[in-house]
Amino acid sequence: MPELESSFSNVVVTEPQGVVLDNKTPALICKDVGKVYPNGTKALEETDLVLNKGDFLTIVGPSGCGKSTFLRLIAGLLTPTSGTIETPGLPETKGNMGFVFQDAHLLPWRTAQRNVELLLEVVGTPKAERAQIAVETLEKVGLKGFEKAYPRELSGGMRMRVSLARTLVLRPPFFLMDEPFAAVDEMTRHTLNEDFLRLQNSEGFSTIFVTHSVSEAVFLSNRVVVMTCRPGRFMKEVSIPFSRNRSNELRSTPEFAEICGAVSKYLWEGA
Ligand SMILES: Nc1ncnc2c1ncn2[C@@H]1O[C@H](COP(=O)(O)OP(=O)(O)OP(=O)(O)O)[C@@H](O)[C@H]1O
Ligand SMILES: [Mg+2]
Repeated sequence: MPELESSFSNVVVTEPQGVVLDNKTPALICKDVGKVYPNGTKALEETDLVLNKGDFLTIVGPSGCGKSTFLRLIAGLLTPTSGTIETPGLPETKGNMGFVFQDAHLLPWRTAQRNVELLLEVVGTPKAERAQIAVETLEKVGLKGFEKAYPRELSGGMRMRVSLARTLVLRPPFFLMDEPFAAVDEMTRHTLNEDFLRLQNSEGFSTIFVTHSVSEAVFLSNRVVVMTCRPGRFMKEVSIPFSRNRSNELRSTPEFAEICGAVSKYLWEGA
């Protein structure tokens, strides 16, 4: 059985935390980050967020509320209209973010191993080292023995594992994940959730995750932020009190159901 924090009583919901630097180590500081697209669409209200090292923060919110926009701003794929994004302790932001999308985006003519080697090729890692890192990383994501398989020979869940491995090889301090497990069936998604959590615990990266699944958000995160409709705004933050060492049994506990209920309630309020 998963360990529940002994102090668990009620669901802890707060206003968005804003920029409060407590005694934890901040990995990412967003101050007043807003986005108006060139066509005039205001996609994101001025937003504050501090992500601490090792945080698993999940954003849930209605379709079109600006979740992907926020991730793309953090990744440096979009420029904010207002505000600043800092990554204390990192030399530069771009390239330090591992961005994982809903689609695995694998190159169909390359084997799993050669797909995983792709970014190592880009940064100039020597061939033998590349191969070794790729094989080791495929093992970490549970794909030992599938190094020579082509994407068409893999299931959707396995393709997503290759995509994770391809990002993992660069050892990014952040994972930015935009509905990465939305296209797989529920059983596969649960297994991917457990395995990704284990990876985060062992590799020590921080994650910002976007999903439409409340139970996925609660299962994975230590913090869940609920956004409102356009222009997107952080409405509430729900603290998830479970230990980081979670397994799928957690999903059938009353405490898990209670927190999912609270997140759903705020989600509907903001829609
Ligand atoms: N390149 C763009 N140009 C203009 N408007 C855009 C652009 N990209 C997104 N938008 C608009 O910005 C708003 C936020 O979009 P975004 O993709 O961030 O939402 P989302 O929360 O990720 O939605 P979903 O849950 O459906 O993925 C939407 O109204 C969308 O139409
Ligand atoms: Mg989106």
